[in-house]
Amino acid sequence: MKTKVYYFEDKNINEEAIDEAATVIRQGGTVIFPTETVYGLGANALDEKSVSRIFEAKGRPSDNPLIVHISNYDMLLYCIGEPLSEKAQKLMAFFWPGPLTIIFKKSKAIPKEVTAGLDTVAIRMPDDEIALGLIEKSGVPIAAPSANISGKPSPTAPEHVIADMDGKVDVILCSRGTRVGVESTVIDISEDTPVVLRPGGVTLEELRKVLGDVETDKGLEPGSIPKSPGMKYTHYAPKAPMAIIRGDEAKVRGKILELASKDRDRGLKVGILTVDEDKDSYPGYSVISIGSRRDSAQAAHNLFNALREFDKLEVDTIYAEAISEEYLGLAVMNRMKKAAGFNIIEV
Ligand code: TXA
Ligand code: MG
Repeated sequence: MKTKVYYFEDKNINEEAIDEAATVIRQGGTVIFPTETVYGLGANALDEKSVSRIFEAKGRPSDNPLIVHISNYDMLLYCIGEPLSEKAQKLMAFFWPGPLTIIFKKSKAIPKEVTAGLDTVAIRMPDDEIALGLIEKSGVPIAAPSANISGKPSPTAPEHVIADMDGKVDVILCSRGTRVGVESTVIDISEDTPVVLRPGGVTLEELRKVLGDVETDKGLEPGSIPKSPGMKYTHYAPKAPMAIIRGDEAKVRGKILELASKDRDRGLKVGILTVDEDKDSYPGYSVISIGSRRDSAQAAHNLFNALREFDKLEVDTIYAEAISEEYLGLAVMNRMKKAAGFNIIEV
């Protein structure tokens, strides 16, 4: 299929391209668009045939439900089959538009292909002018997973989208790199205590300030079954096997140097995922820093690009320093653990 690619320079939005993309959505096609988290691969959320094209383009298992993106509250009410709870209203007031996805009971308007047969639907209002313009002009809610080939790191820059999806969708709208860099937080507020099903761009600390008690889904740890179907798949994985080293900072550096030199002696090319403070500790290896240890937002912003860079460097093995799980560090470590298949070495 021939993909039409539109590139917008910063603040230079081409309204005609968005009009054209909106028409493609209304006619049942697929459009990739930027959001503040990662790029999304969208289709009309109200039409099952359109939605099936998303799964095809990504090679995504059909039991993994999609997030429905809206641009106004009428669309929200059309998609949900329950009255708006006080908790939902609070969350929307604080975090929308923004990187928070809320699970609601679904209305009949949402086909089962979107929700993988669940009677709930995941909804968010993205904080991106192009995304909001596209949804508004389409006049329908847009179902969109991250615009990567299933299993690969989510795309945070136009080049990632082109590499994965050129020729597989009708239109690509791209602008700069995405601001947040990890996907939205998915929250279930159906029980007394809200549960984070996927950590993401809105932190647990921020959610607790607004809602009080908030738990994380126990199913996020290895060996248990997550409530959010998508969390059970291997994800974000670079081509090379990856191990995370966690513990005292000096011991972590020592352990990585020990493992890396053994691998190098065996003729392997070693990649090291680290932080600015440590990036000079590994001379001679393929080192990528995700920013300062003290800045989890920077780590979130840089992580997926770093994982893709290791593929380009064609490393044979990757050692990654764990970072603190505070603030955006929780989402960063969740993605890192999944990229490493939960291979964690404690020192
Ligand atoms: O930031 C994001 O959320 C990006 C951008 C494009 O909006 N989208 C994204 O979509 O990350 P995706 O499909 O890669 O991840 C959707 C996650 C999956 O873990 C899925 O299982 C979960 O949301 N999910 C969707 N519907 C759900 C539901 N009804 N109940 C529980 N989890 C659900
Ligand atoms: Mg994804």
